[in-house]
Amino acid sequence: MNEEELFRTARLLVADHKGLLAMDESNPTCNKRFARLGIPQTVEARRDYRELIVTTPGLCESISGAILCDETIRQKKKDGTPFVQVLSEAGIIPGIKVDSGAKDMAGHPGEKVTEGLDDLRDRVREYSQMGARFAKWRAVITVNDRLPSRGCIEANAQALARYAALCQERGMVPMIEPEVLMDGDYSLERCVEVTEEVLRTVFNQLYRQRVNLQGMILKPNMVLPGLNCPSQEDVNEVADATVNCLLRAVPAAVPGIAFLSGGQSCELASERLNAMNMRFKSRMPWELAFSFARAIQQPALEIWLGQEANTMAAQQALLHRARCNSAARRGEYRAAMEFEQ
Ligand code: G3H
Repeated sequence: MNEEELFRTARLLVADHKGLLAMDESNPTCNKRFARLGIPQTVEARRDYRELIVTTPGLCESISGAILCDETIRQKKKDGTPFVQVLSEAGIIPGIKVDSGAKDMAGHPGEKVTEGLDDLRDRVREYSQMGARFAKWRAVITVNDRLPSRGCIEANAQALARYAALCQERGMVPMIEPEVLMDGDYSLERCVEVTEEVLRTVFNQLYRQRVNLQGMILKPNMVLPGLNCPSQEDVNEVADATVNCLLRAVPAAVPGIAFLSGGQSCELASERLNAMNMRFKSRMPWELAFSFARAIQQPALEIWLGQEANTMAAQQALLHRARCNSAARRGEYRAAMEFEQ
């Protein structure tokens, strides 16, 4: 492994106020989103949609890297150019989701553990030969009065650390995603408590598995009250709770933190990221970025609807969200930007 190259890629992913575009939905998830909008759930429709994304002009001004899934990394533009090449030539670093999904955890009703370690060394080698320079693994943590269990947190943290070590062995930057799910009626304080415990456990395991923190990106949830919690704190309270939690749990050696959006509206995700960068500016040791799927893609998908005639308008919508989030990284996002498309 060329350590300098690994560190450089990690830094590049969060440099210049850019963020990541997660376009790695599994086929079932992508199909579900298509079905809701009446888009055919076929390989070709998924390919068309992904071509729309990777060919959006100007995307690289706000997007540093794009996360693909196994189907997409093997796909090509209609003219035969592989998506990986399209992205690389546009100055966007290609990445790949390498976990094989969160499965019911034995002995832990209501909890999941993410699988995919078995043949991971071989798959990482193959993806790296195809041009991927970073890789993502997502663990999910469910919260309620009795969950998460310690067993679930530890099993997921260990899997994240083992995956991260295998990626670094091959020179690929691991993007480590322990997601505390937003579903539920838990409070902001409960989310702080769970997120902090999860992150501390993850970093403990990363240390044990000899993962180099300078060559990784953390992809956590923002600290939020559950979607059904009657009290929903305002943007500044969420920003303070999130960054303070991260300051306590994430070592300064980590070059960047790139949030998932988790089901927040596009505007709220941008507003909250903006507030964090504005209020904590010089007090954070890492870059604070985004790695959104729904909060970047949703408006574009709703415009596209599977119709070629809507492609340019959908690309405009995608570009707009990417720009809003890049502005949020600088602490310069304003609600008025939403009317400037
Ligand atoms: O694994 C989840 C995605 O990478 C982020 O998706 O922004 O829609 O939560 P999201």
